[in-house]
Amino acid sequence: SWTMADFVEGESERIRRTVGEDRVILGLSGGVDSSVVAALLAKSIGRRCTCIFVDNGLLRTGERQLVEHTFRGHFDVDLRVVDASEAFLADLAGVTDPQEKRRRIGSRFIDVFKASADAIAGEGGGGPVKFLAQGTLYPDVIESGHGHTGAAANIKLHHNVGGLPERLGFSLLEPLRNLFKDEVRKLGEVLGLPEAMVWRHPFPGPGLAVRILGEVEPSGLAMIRRSDEILLEELVAANLYRKTAQVFAVLLPVKSVGVMGDGRTHEQVVAIRAVESQDFMTADWARLPYEVLATVSNRIINEVRGVNRVVYDISSKPPATIEWE
Ligand code: XMP
Repeated sequence: SWTMADFVEGESERIRRTVGEDRVILGLSGGVDSSVVAALLAKSIGRRCTCIFVDNGLLRTGERQLVEHTFRGHFDVDLRVVDASEAFLADLAGVTDPQEKRRRIGSRFIDVFKASADAIAGEGGGGPVKFLAQGTLYPDVIESGHGHTGAAANIKLHHNVGGLPERLGFSLLEPLRNLFKDEVRKLGEVLGLPEAMVWRHPFPGPGLAVRILGEVEPSGLAMIRRSDEILLEELVAANLYRKTAQVFAVLLPVKSVGVMGDGRTHEQVVAIRAVESQDFMTADWARLPYEVLATVSNRIINEVRGVNRVVYDISSKPPATIEWE
C-alpha cells in the first residue's frame, strides 16, 4: 500500500530530476506547509535550496528562534534570515485601516523577498536560481484555480507570496499540491520535523499586526506578544493545544477602568480567541475550561503591563471571522 515513505522517495526523485543543476528558493514562514517543503527540499536537494525567512517585526515570541534552531541544527538547507522589521514597522506607522495594514505588509514583503532573491541569484555558484518553491496544498489548488491564499480563501486581503513567481521570473515548485493538511503533517513527522512545528496552529502572514486593532506600535506589540505567550503556555500546560484549531490573543483599541491597590487604572483590554475548525472556512468558539481561562486572565492582568482586563470571544464563523481584522 502507498505510504508516506513512498511519497518521500518518489517526490524527492521527481524534485531532483526537475531541479537538476539549478537552484531553488523558498519563502519559509515557520508555518507547517513551508516548513515541510523546506524539509523535503533539504532531503532531496540539500543546499541547492535557499530558504528565506523574513523577520517582519510582527512575529510571536520565539518564532524566529524556532525556525533557526530547527533548520540550522537538523536540516541541510541554506537558511537566510532577513531582518526587515524596521521597514515593516515604519510602513505601519499611523495606519489603522485593516485592509491598508495588510496591503502595506504584503507589498513590503514582496520587496524584501525580491531583493533577497536577487541577491542570492547574484551570488553565482551552484547554478542559476530557476525555481520558487511554495507550500501550496490540494485545497488551495481547488479553491482558487491555481492561486495561493493560504489556509483558507476568504474575504480578507491575503497575499502570502501570491504573484511572486511571475514577478521574479521563476518556475513554481509545489511538491505538496496533491496533499491535504493531515497528510502534510504526517509527511512532516516522517521527515523529522519537531512536533512543535508539525502541529502548529496557523498564523496569518501579516502576523501580530492584525491582532493589534488599530495602529501597530512597539508598546502594543510588546503587550500582545507577552499575552499570546502566556496564553499558549497555559494551553499547552492544560493539554489543549492539539484539541484546538487556533488560539490567540487580540489587543483591543479601547481602555477600560480598573482598580489596583488604592488607585484607579485606565488600561487596555485583551481578547482571547480560541476556535475549533476543520478547514478554517467555518469555526466554532472553543469551550475552554473556566479554570484555564481564569489562569490565563490572572496571568495576563498581573504580568502584562498596560492591560487591566481580559475578555473571551464567543463568536462563531460565520458571521464573525477567526481573526479580528
Ligand atoms: P479569517 O480571519 O478570515 O481567517 O476567518 C481564516 C484563516 O486564515 C488565516 N489568515 C491568514 N493566513 N495570510 C495567511 O496566510 C493572511 O493574510 C491571513 N489572514 C487570515 C487566519 O489566521 C485563519 O486561520
